[in-house]
Amino acid sequence: MNVVVVDTYKEIGEKAADIFVAQLLMKPNSILGLATGSTPLSLYEALIQRYKDGKIDFSQVTSFNLDEYVGLAPDHEQSYRYFMEKNLFEHINIDKNKTYVPDGLVKDADAFGKAYDQQIKDMGYIDLQILGIGANGHIGFNEPDKIFTYATHKVDLAETTIKANSRFFDSIDDVPKQAISMGIGTIMKSKKIILMATGEAKAQAIRDAIYTDPAPEHPASILQFHQNVTVIVDKEAASLL
Ligand code: F6R
Repeated sequence: MNVVVVDTYKEIGEKAADIFVAQLLMKPNSILGLATGSTPLSLYEALIQRYKDGKIDFSQVTSFNLDEYVGLAPDHEQSYRYFMEKNLFEHINIDKNKTYVPDGLVKDADAFGKAYDQQIKDMGYIDLQILGIGANGHIGFNEPDKIFTYATHKVDLAETTIKANSRFFDSIDDVPKQAISMGIGTIMKSKKIILMATGEAKAQAIRDAIYTDPAPEHPASILQFHQNVTVIVDKEAASLL
């Protein structure tokens, strides 16, 4: 793992954006794996700025998002599809027909997960995957568990995740209890991975991701087995390294 420690949250986004620019110069039709939540916002702001400055072109890109809440329609303001539209897709020249976010309204999650994974496989897997991390070590919504789940699947969100994400909802009761998440196997098939984290609340999770023996109780620790991971963190998230 390459670990890059920077001073500010903004710099995390700038460093990650440098890698995106290089990736799309090397392969304009890259398959990007995208995340939601607070952490990637500085990356998306940097990417929008670079697009405006003519430094990056998304016209040939395909994207797959990591996850979506079960029960939220794409136009729900807290859905991850809506998040992606507002925070990235509406501001860049990506072809919306080539942006995929798991369907939170799907009836048969198993069939959906198989089809999502197959589609990613058919395209040759993700070239560059961006990950945030939960304070409990989750990546995507692969929560701490007894096993690593390979495929895209429906998950019960951990209580800590529901509580953490309640900041985006009027009340904790409004937070969906389940999500569809890309599985660990599909994430690990990505050719390059960037793991981003900011703030002291993520320090233990970052320490576990890098140093603990890989185990499903610390989902991000699986990344130690990946050949090409760049961890970009601020000083606070790096404070236990
Ligand atoms: C979101 C996702 C999650 C988040 C994680 C951190 O698509 O996959 O793993 O990256 O919950 O969320 P923030 O960045 O809001 O702290």
